[in-house]
Amino acid sequence: MDWPGRFGGLCHGGDYNPEQWPEEVWKEDVALMRRAGVNLVSVGVFSWARLEPSPGVHDFGWLDRVLDLLHDGGIGVNLATPTASPPPWFGLAHPDALTVTADGTRLTHGSRDTYCVHAPAYRAASVRIAGTLAERYRDHPALAMWHVHNEYGTACHCEHAASAFRTWLRARHGTLDALNDAWTTSFWSQRYSAWEQVTPPRATQYLPNPSQVLDFRRFVSDAMLGHFREQKAVLRELTPAVPVTTNFVLGDWVPVNHRHWAAEVDLVAIDHYPSSDPPAETAFAADLARGWASPPAHSATTDPAHSPTVDPTHVPGSTPEHSPTISPSLAPEHAPKPWLLMEQAVVTYTGPRMLAKRPGEITRLSLSHIARGSQGAMFFQWRASRGGAELWYGGMVPHAGPDSRIFREICDLGALLPSLTDACAAPVEAGAAILWDAEVGWALQSPGLPSTELNYAETVRQAHRVLYRHGVTADLVHPSSDLSAYPLVLVPALYLISDADADNLRRYVSGGGTLVVSYLSGVADEHARVRLGGYPGALRDLLGIRVEEFHPLPPDFTLTLSTPDNQLGTGTFWSEHLHLEGAEALAVYTGPHASGTPLAGQPAVTRHSYGSGTALYVSTRLSDTAYAHLLGLRPTPVELVRRGEWLFAINHGDEAQEAAGLHLPPGGFSVRPR
Ligand code: GLA
Repeated sequence: MDWPGRFGGLCHGGDYNPEQWPEEVWKEDVALMRRAGVNLVSVGVFSWARLEPSPGVHDFGWLDRVLDLLHDGGIGVNLATPTASPPPWFGLAHPDALTVTADGTRLTHGSRDTYCVHAPAYRAASVRIAGTLAERYRDHPALAMWHVHNEYGTACHCEHAASAFRTWLRARHGTLDALNDAWTTSFWSQRYSAWEQVTPPRATQYLPNPSQVLDFRRFVSDAMLGHFREQKAVLRELTPAVPVTTNFVLGDWVPVNHRHWAAEVDLVAIDHYPSSDPPAETAFAADLARGWASPPAHSATTDPAHSPTVDPTHVPGSTPEHSPTISPSLAPEHAPKPWLLMEQAVVTYTGPRMLAKRPGEITRLSLSHIARGSQGAMFFQWRASRGGAELWYGGMVPHAGPDSRIFREICDLGALLPSLTDACAAPVEAGAAILWDAEVGWALQSPGLPSTELNYAETVRQAHRVLYRHGVTADLVHPSSDLSAYPLVLVPALYLISDADADNLRRYVSGGGTLVVSYLSGVADEHARVRLGGYPGALRDLLGIRVEEFHPLPPDFTLTLSTPDNQLGTGTFWSEHLHLEGAEALAVYTGPHASGTPLAGQPAVTRHSYGSGTALYVSTRLSDTAYAHLLGLRPTPVELVRRGEWLFAINHGDEAQEAAGLHLPPGGFSVRPR
């Protein structure tokens, strides 16, 4: 497993779906790939119906010819197992393997991702088709990597799921009493007296139990990981030297804890589709992927927010080496590994509209990923489809064909990549860390919170955007990470925190670190139960404050913050009634309050000395400018990333800029030794 460098440089290519095209197009495809400098393509992602047109009857001839052609063209193959889209015959033969939604609807074939990872028939068929592919192509010289499945993300609520959920819960909680306690089932007469009574959080009359929902999301992630591990075990056995990965889909809806999954893949692969602010979103996604792939050394704390033995469908023999204290599927510690932007689009999906990318944007966003550690820049997809659900999702060869701006830019990118190899040898330098925990995001999606308008991902993205716009590269890391190397750690809305992770933050600050904690952090334990005695619960002593009440603000309502130099401006969205217990106030609320409770004169932003370090608390949402001012940052007009001797500078704007001693024309970039 000699990644990176497996392809002699950075990866360039995309999803290649030759089964959508007549065979005479394939030769042109390979010739165009060569022209564009493509060196890796993902093949067969949705090919199950073509590979196995009826049960047990296989057709590999076409794939043999595709792989041969690609190999002759010097192009490596990231060969997919096709399990994200079982063929129509499969669902008809095994209706119990079709997804059941929370409201009890059993989905039918007609789209993709309609499967239940708990259904024995689907598990068996997945392993079978993966094994059949590996048997056939194990010695094919084009085989460079395995791409298991596609964007795991389907949660099922059927009886198979219910049974597996109970197994998982028994492993996590041990006894029914412990589960009743963790889920606070004394509320609304939910107490369980037998395991059989416990179900996934299906449609119910009013608010569901938030602890049940949170555990179900943890379970779904682990169960899908079990499905991945089964395929990986088969592929590993037949092709021990070929790296195995799966592409992580990003988004607030995703029921996968990628930090846990990163320990299981040989390379972390992400698909990224920015929408409203592509440069800042790209930097965020890339820093997130780097965090999953190459976390800094972790502290001794494990991740008690998660149970140790939870894969109810574990395949014997597929267990990798792991730390003695944590189960293999959940180990937060793993050796640094490479990561790759596996899919991006040549257009920008904004929801209502597919926008053409601006001239040069394909290269600039690819370069941003690469600067931040990606082993290349790949796309969905090679050739834009002429039909099917995603016919307008673009392609490296668009509908217009190769005589097009998009294809020319793809060729430009292909020509640029080989020149970046030296600059990519050194590690990415981060000047700060931001704490990020997928489980917090899940918990903050519960109904019944003091505000349903809090978007965890957006809150974390704001912290990241502020650093990004001020030239500070940030690592996104879990609260259990060893933070000692970072001069600055931001903690946005870390609603759930375990005692061990709170201790970790204390250790960091007492050792001299600067911690900036924002509202709604430290409030609940790992079961989503509030920590009593005042917010921010687990972090009160560290921050030297006690919050008595929350005051979420109506939309468009602003509170003025008064500071000695009046620079923090206003607070929006959230406010709190806060008491100083050792901390000093850096800013106080002034003026009338939306809830009618006067907060005038009460602390809004605080600072507390703790050991050799400092812990700040921000009880409202600051503007980006105010946040940067609080952190003492100065803006930079271009994206800057430092790697050893090298500086990546990218001007995403429409005007020429001077930065870091460089003159960058509109849309220009520079990669050079500092
Ligand atoms: C993801 C999927 C692809 C395709 C694209 C569309 O990356 O993996 O199959 O649906 O999104 O952008």
